[in-house]
Amino acid sequence: MSARIIDGKATAEKVNAMSAARAARLKTKGIEPHLAVILVGENPASQTYVRSKERACEGAGIRSTVVRLPETCTQAELEQQIDVLNADPGVHGILVQLPLPAHLSSDQVIERIDPAKDVDGFHPVNMGKLAIGMPELVPCTPLGITVLLEEYGIELPGKHVVIVGRSRIVGRPMALLMVNAHATVTVCNTRTPNLSTITRQADILIVATGHRNTITPEMVSAGTVVIDVGINRFEGKLCGDVDSEVMNVASAMTPVPGGVGPMTVAMLLSNTLSVAERNAR
Ligand code: GUN
Repeated sequence: MSARIIDGKATAEKVNAMSAARAARLKTKGIEPHLAVILVGENPASQTYVRSKERACEGAGIRSTVVRLPETCTQAELEQQIDVLNADPGVHGILVQLPLPAHLSSDQVIERIDPAKDVDGFHPVNMGKLAIGMPELVPCTPLGITVLLEEYGIELPGKHVVIVGRSRIVGRPMALLMVNAHATVTVCNTRTPNLSTITRQADILIVATGHRNTITPEMVSAGTVVIDVGINRFEGKLCGDVDSEVMNVASAMTPVPGGVGPMTVAMLLSNTLSVAERNAR
């Protein structure tokens, strides 16, 4: 039997329709929600991602500004630009597109962003609030996954959620969100021995390694819900971290493309609106 498709594109469209309504409501109060994105250098994938964020903002009636800095910009120049955006009361969300060129410290850049405008949710203050169960701005990809699970009626209390990957962007905050939702959580990484023994115990398996075919059908038990966070390019086509044959074992699964990806951008808009709404109160 083939898995039920967890349609991220359709769910993102629903979230974006709500975002458009929230933006319109803010405008009646004289507030124009505004996201500022800093893009350093010419990384083609980053340029594509930033363009899709701009387009999504436009669709929802959110103003977006892209600050482009040259590949050669210094740490001080980049941080000075963040300071300008931090100090601008007309800017609600600030995002620095990652990865940065190797000579720049992303840790220092993330810490420079005002936590109240950190719509990526990567600042240690926001990660800390999530870790103690008092989340404010939550990283977009894991937040989007929780919205997808909710949309599809997949309940979390008491479930065993297995996460493969422990990155700052996905794995770690995902684990914290699942703990907060009363799931039993196992986080695996490249040094986990007998990975398949653990993945086979999952009720919900979330895979974010950045490597295609991390998970093959024999690593998944029948009936598992599989969330594939990967976006890899192989032989000119996009594929996830999960072998598409897993569709024949899972009870429900996100496709790539059209699964988690659209939700990430939708949650970015939602986080930006949350900041603007808080300022309005
Ligand atoms: N690069 C890949 N994913 C992300 C993300 O969620 N936020 C930022 N800022 N950069 C990224």
